[in-house]
Amino acid sequence: MKSIYLVKHGGAAKAFEFRETPKPIPGGGDVIIKVEYSGLNFADILARKGLYQDAPPIPSVLGYDVSGTVDSVGKDITDLKKGDRVAAFTRFGGYSEYVAADRLGTVRIPDNLESAAADALTTQYVTAFYSAAEVTNLHEGDNVLIHAAAGGVGTALVQYALYKKCVVFATAGSDVKVALLKEAGAQFPVNYRKDDYKEVVKKYANGGIDVIFDSLGGKYVKDGIKLLGAGGRIICFGAAEMSRRSNIFFKAKTGLSFGFYHPAQFIIPSKSLIGVNMLRIADTKPAVLKRCIEEVMELYKRGVFKPVVGKIFSATDISKAHEYVESRESVGKVVIKW
Ligand SMILES: NC(=O)c1ccc[n+]([C@@H]2O[C@H](COP(=O)([O-])OP(=O)(O)OC[C@H]3O[C@@H](n4cnc5c(N)ncnc54)[C@H](OP(=O)(O)O)[C@@H]3O)[C@@H](O)[C@H]2O)c1
Repeated sequence: MKSIYLVKHGGAAKAFEFRETPKPIPGGGDVIIKVEYSGLNFADILARKGLYQDAPPIPSVLGYDVSGTVDSVGKDITDLKKGDRVAAFTRFGGYSEYVAADRLGTVRIPDNLESAAADALTTQYVTAFYSAAEVTNLHEGDNVLIHAAAGGVGTALVQYALYKKCVVFATAGSDVKVALLKEAGAQFPVNYRKDDYKEVVKKYANGGIDVIFDSLGGKYVKDGIKLLGAGGRIICFGAAEMSRRSNIFFKAKTGLSFGFYHPAQFIIPSKSLIGVNMLRIADTKPAVLKRCIEEVMELYKRGVFKPVVGKIFSATDISKAHEYVESRESVGKVVIKW
């Protein structure tokens, strides 16, 4: 079978190589999936640039999620069979024609759901669900601020916050994305490369922001904490800001721009900062991952989650797919098709 190896950190054009590798053999609890779509996630861009500390050393195969059909199953699995349509987490290794996925991170695709869209419901929707429904609660009328709201995780967060009848302040980097967010129902979408989202929040969020979903890091965290009202929570799950440049001075400056905190700064105004790393959750709490993906599928069936596939590339265009996600133009999920 073919796998796409990351062989060189840096620009996408020279980063990847197709290699022949043996088809995986299932362990007892594994599902071997014949992959139809491999999903891209922003972490793949960071890994390609050598900025992602959890990524395996090169040469390695990236890819957190896939969708396709069951090829074979391990001896402990009785509820899936060859040909069943599934989507799964892969914890790297997803850019391959066949993958071995843990049954706990594998979910059946409902009949009415297209496979590329099903892939969107894995890493990105599960991260959103875990962040918005497990580590915090959203309540009707809450003021919620979602950064990079038109992206993969962002789209899911907007859908969930609107389902919970929250008031959604959503940032995005272009007018096209702002128009999409408006169409999706976000009440206060802001092109934050043009306008000051903080002013919009200050003007319209009475009592401050209740929950911020921050995937940008740096000064967005420091500014976000100031925008929180009493009881407010900031959920930090990314640092896209760090990816702008890779030189050591920029990294140090962005690192410092997060700010330094003492617990009293949270206790006295009654605010919280919460970190989320789904990879760590998947590695150490697979039952939580299983619960989340099943809940996400339920919310899809109930019409709450409507996965958006922004663009489908051929697997041979993996470099173009990476460049597209990195360009900040992408909306929703980007996948490659085998
Ligand atoms: N902690 C976890 O477990 C976990 C899991 C999944 C994802 N994440 C994080 O969640 C975020 C979203 O992931 P995703 O896969 O759904 O990606 P995505 O949102 O589809 O793409 C990333 C978006 O980030 C925004 N962005 C802001 N600053 C950027 C910069 N300097 N360079 C590039 N993009 C920048 C861009 O949108 P705008 O231009 O519209 O702002 C871009 O489209 C990422 O930061 C990712 O690392 C974390």
